Amino acid sequence: MSTKVLKEVLVTKTEIQSLCLKLAKEIEQDYQDKEPAIFLGLLKGCHPFMTDLIRHINLTLEVDYMDVSSFFGAVKSQGEVQIIKDMTASVKNRDIIIVEDIVDSGRTIKKVKELLEFRGAKSVEIVTLIDKPSGRTVDLAAKYIGTEVPNAFIIGYGLDYKEYYRNLEEIGIPRDEIIKEHDEK
Ligand code: PRP
Repeated sequence: MSTKVLKEVLVTKTEIQSLCLKLAKEIEQDYQDKEPAIFLGLLKGCHPFMTDLIRHINLTLEVDYMDVSSFFGAVKSQGEVQIIKDMTASVKNRDIIIVEDIVDSGRTIKKVKELLEFRGAKSVEIVTLIDKPSGRTVDLAAKYIGTEVPNAFIIGYGLDYKEYYRNLEEIGIPRDEIIKEHDEK
């Protein structure tokens, strides 16, 4: 399916899996002497990454999710963050690792990080499969980064265009026809 949808593949299926393993082992090393951390996925884009990341982490851990939105169907971040669904666990005195598919402007993560710190988290770190530093509008850096991508709109492996293409096994730049097709609907 990827070849029909993507004009350029930026991260292959194999690369994604080795990045997940690399990040999992970094986190495992850093958290082995801590109490179980909460891996907080930001829906919906985090879903495949969360699944592939945590199965490589040989530690006791918790998984939780929040649904926050900053794109509202557009190809560029609109700069607003809305909490659609909150997490269920209490974060007070807990080590939290926010799990993101991509950090672009950084606004989503910054807001969520501030919220968790306000709620009394002991520590808040970020793991992202993809970092797009050229998109950054706030001062924010993830501690654990899979790979960087150039300043292009990308889809696949959790990343959507108008809710489609999250199921692609690769990450890349969509063909112009794909964007046009959904824009015309
Ligand atoms: C995307 C992505 C990140 C955020 C990154 O989520 O999954 O959460 O945008 O953008 P930022 O760094 O500019 O804030 P989106 O709000 O599109 O929701 P989704 O995960 O449901 O696709």
